[in-house]
Amino acid sequence: MLQLKKIIPPRVLEGLRYIRHGRLVWDRALPSFVPVAAMTTKEEQVLFTQAVRDVAGLRGEIVDLGCWLGSTTLSLAQGLREMNDSGRVHAYDRFIWEAWMDLYSSEHWCDYMPGETFLPETRRRMGDLKPWVNLVQADLTTCRWEGGPIRLLLVDAMKSWPLTSAIAREFYPSLMVGALVLHQDYLSFNHPWISVLQCRLRDYFEYESSVSYGCTSRFKLTKQIPPEVLAEAIDFKQLQDDEAELSWQWSLEVMGERARVAMTCSRIMYYLGKGDLARARQLFARDEHIIDAMNIGVVKKSIAEAEAGDDSWAKMNSER
Ligand SMILES: C[S@@+](CC[C@H](N)C(=O)[O-])C[C@H]1O[C@@H](n2cnc3c(N)ncnc32)[C@H](O)[C@@H]1O
Repeated sequence: MLQLKKIIPPRVLEGLRYIRHGRLVWDRALPSFVPVAAMTTKEEQVLFTQAVRDVAGLRGEIVDLGCWLGSTTLSLAQGLREMNDSGRVHAYDRFIWEAWMDLYSSEHWCDYMPGETFLPETRRRMGDLKPWVNLVQADLTTCRWEGGPIRLLLVDAMKSWPLTSAIAREFYPSLMVGALVLHQDYLSFNHPWISVLQCRLRDYFEYESSVSYGCTSRFKLTKQIPPEVLAEAIDFKQLQDDEAELSWQWSLEVMGERARVAMTCSRIMYYLGKGDLARARQLFARDEHIIDAMNIGVVKKSIAEAEAGDDSWAKMNSER
């Protein structure tokens, strides 16, 4: 191992370690235990199940936003079953296949074309945990939550400024004091809006922990968010760079070094999203050495694509 460390660059070693910690979930519906891809790591799946145990004392709903093929849903439902809890996980998704999802799948178990529905596949994958699951096909930019108080909210669908606003507007008012919010994308390289939202609401949430492998951070609601405070927090139209910078700084302060890579990348992606290629390039040149094996390639590629005239990231993220 010592020899390997000398030969293999640290970034590659880090990448290998990440792979070892896996992005697999067992397909419970198949007779033999076949592992299938998931967009969460084993450590995250354990954290989701533990979170269900931790909110056992609250009488409220469990909501999973952006469940895809259900790795998040299965982990939550597992917690309910273990606790002998008759509640259900309300798992939301559009359930419409998109081309980027091919990256996480394999034709051996899943072969969809963009635009096709994969709802039956997710349903099948719930296997013997079906009684603890309520799959809801909905668009989270417009859907309404009328299901009452929420004790646990897992969010893996804040993929843009408008989705972040819509989800917080609809689901945060129902969070009970003591409820957990699990942001699956908090430590991802390209979700700058989540830190802006949580920083704005920092007086109402307590940061609890983050996984070592994966991108999830866990927060607890400490007091009800007044409607006018929430309305202001989800309005990103007037967001200035200074405030965005403050939110990444705040994340570093509360989460420590664990957040450094994600906040460094998020910052670069934020300026790319604004179409400020010069600033993104300048930050990348200065901070490249901070970025790890998992993220360096994607950030570099995004900058290269923008330099080549591809403005799809900017187009996707200019709308607030
Ligand atoms: C990163 S994937 C979720 C992965 C999944 N949680 C897992 O653990 O494997 C994000 C999901 O959000 C869903 N999504 C994106 N935008 C949405 C929207 N506007 N309404 C509902 N679902 C949406 C996508 O269909 C996708 O399944």
